[in-house]
Amino acid sequence: MAELLRSLEAPRRLAAHLRAVHDVAVELADWVGDRYPDLAVDRNAVLFGAATHDMGKTVHPEELSEPGSAHEAAGRDVLLEHGFTTDLARFVTTHASWDSPDVTIEELLVSTADKIWKDKRVPDLEDRLVQVLAAATGREPWEEYLALDDLLTQIGTHPPSARPPGGLPHQPVTHPACLLSPCPRWRLGPCLKPAAQGGGYVAAAATV
Ligand SMILES: [Fe+2]
Repeated sequence: MAELLRSLEAPRRLAAHLRAVHDVAVELADWVGDRYPDLAVDRNAVLFGAATHDMGKTVHPEELSEPGSAHEAAGRDVLLEHGFTTDLARFVTTHASWDSPDVTIEELLVSTADKIWKDKRVPDLEDRLVQVLAAATGREPWEEYLALDDLLTQIGTHPPSARPPGGLPHQPVTHPACLLSPCPRWRLGPCLKPAAQGGGYVAAAATV
C-alpha cells in the first residue's frame, strides 16, 4: 500500500492519516477478535479499508482540509484501476456513512477507526456497532456499550501514533469486588460486572 501511495504521489499528510487509522483499526479488530471470538470478521478487509478509505484524496487533495465527498467515488475508481476488488474498494464509499441497514461489522470498524484516531466520538456510529456486537453475543447492549466505551476512551486518549516507543506500560488492575484480576491485556479494559452484582467497574481504573 505504501508503494501505491508513492506512485500516486499521495501528500504526506494523507499517508500519515491512513497509517493512523490503520493502526487504530488493528486494535479495534484485535479487541473484537478477543471479546467476540464467534463473530465472523474479515480482519484483512478491515485493515485494508482503514489503510485505503481516503485514497481518493490523492485525486482531490483539497478535501484533506475542506469538507467534501468527491474523493469517495474517485478513491473507488483508483482502487479498481489498480486491480482491487469491488468488495475491498467499497470502504472508500462507505466510511463516511453507516446508516445503511446492510452495514457490515467491517465497515463499522473502519468508520470507527476513522473517528477514534483523533478521539472523535460519534454516538450514532457507536450505537450501530453496539447493536451488532450485542446481537452477536446475546448480551445486553449496555454491557457491550461499556466495554466499547472503555476501549474507545483508551485508544482515543492514547492513539497508537502518539504512544512512546515500546508502547505504554501495562499496569495490571485488580478488581477486589469481583476478584477478576489482573487485567491480562490492557485492551480488555476493566471489569464490566455491574456494582449491583458485586462487580468492580471503575472507569478511572483503566489501565492506560
Ligand atoms: Fe479518514
